[in-house]
Amino acid sequence: MTSMNHLRGKTILANGFHMPRREAVDVFTDALIAVDKDGMIESLLRPGDPGYEAGRRSAQDGGTLVRLPEGTYLLPGLIDTHVHAPQYPQLGQALDVPLEVWLNKYTFPLEARYADIAFARLTYSLLVDDLIAIGTTTALYYATIHQDATRILADICLEKGQRALVGKVAMDHREQCPDYYRDASADEAIRGTADLFDYVKANPDNAEGRVLAVVSPRFIPSCTDASLKGLGALAKELGCHVQTHCSEGDWEHRFVIERFGMTGTETLDSFGFLGRKSVLGHAPHLTERDMDIFKARGSAVSHCPLSNAYFSSAVFPLRAALERGLHVALGTDVSGGPSSSMFEAMRESIAASRMLETGNDARFPPEERRGRPFSRVDFRDAFYIATTGGGNALDLPIGNFTPGYHFDAIAVDTRAPEGSIRLWDDLDTGEKILQKIVYTTTRPNIASVWVGGRQIR
Ligand code: GUN
Ligand code: FE
Repeated sequence: MTSMNHLRGKTILANGFHMPRREAVDVFTDALIAVDKDGMIESLLRPGDPGYEAGRRSAQDGGTLVRLPEGTYLLPGLIDTHVHAPQYPQLGQALDVPLEVWLNKYTFPLEARYADIAFARLTYSLLVDDLIAIGTTTALYYATIHQDATRILADICLEKGQRALVGKVAMDHREQCPDYYRDASADEAIRGTADLFDYVKANPDNAEGRVLAVVSPRFIPSCTDASLKGLGALAKELGCHVQTHCSEGDWEHRFVIERFGMTGTETLDSFGFLGRKSVLGHAPHLTERDMDIFKARGSAVSHCPLSNAYFSSAVFPLRAALERGLHVALGTDVSGGPSSSMFEAMRESIAASRMLETGNDARFPPEERRGRPFSRVDFRDAFYIATTGGGNALDLPIGNFTPGYHFDAIAVDTRAPEGSIRLWDDLDTGEKILQKIVYTTTRPNIASVWVGGRQIR
């Protein structure tokens, strides 16, 4: 893939925001970010820093200085840590029933269609294009049980330049998965997963390792003990990324306790799935002890507030988890969540936290409304989990502009006439501009997208 406007070996002069640490937004003005020939950040200098003037002059004289226009802000690319790629055709549909009904009524029939690779190519291309257009530079994808279609998703991410982690879904339980959509055996689920790792690694277009494979048991109910055991062992052997759903809703949470006599977290841990590169979707029903296990293993929760409103009957206690020191990232959960925009997911994470804090049935007086005090988060935590939190969850050097990290970034044009950000110079300054970006960005505001220093849009 080539691009006229790639930033490899160049220096960008920009205003913008990032949050290397949760404690504070780092606002930078006229910062000079040097990107090396491999697309890694060499340095971030601000006016007054040693070397700033010389660096700026030499980039200018050498013709390698790229300046962002006035009113355009540089942000880290957004990291969506929970996307069901095959569900994209039903985005904005099918949200009228509980999860365990939704799977059988709508989702399994749709996912089964990816036996057709032409259908896979069409929908996966559209999804990856749309995610890039709304600023998602890295996505952690579930595909389907199909080997061929899953490889096509990995290939499309490579082609289009997105950073991606792709999993062949493993689901082999005869009672929980329909005959028309199930791995034929535990062995097939495990072998199919291992084969995807080989395929992704061997792909000549993937020399930089921008696309990775992920061990992806759908969720505990879908899997036999044999496939859980084999996939857990494979994950340990490969030291790789793992994704699955964990304690998402009441049905699943109770089903797992009945089957294994312990919580989802304890069960996944017993099979070896909880490592430093494990990202568990949803998890609003975690117990205090479960959270301690997450913390001890360094595993992350992918918070999916858009979806949890429909399927979880509980709000994930984001702030409590962050204050406890858990890794927390953000996900859209396409199509359980009815938007593919990480901006929407950020907004919903804030709104959900406010509902959790106050409780929400006005028939009760405020003190009896069963709110959970000190639960609210603001745009800062939302932005943090969408960027640095995602990088930490995946244990990849992405999510902010620290030297040594990949230059994965978006340029947000706050003046795009077709966009939805409106700034007033005297009202909107400093991190308040980031607040408006978080709350009001839509697709026309995303002017440029880079992954590893390559402009992919
Ligand atoms: N649990 C098992 N499969 C799924 C899925 O596709 N989406 C969500 N949200 N939860 C699940
Ligand atoms: Fe999901």
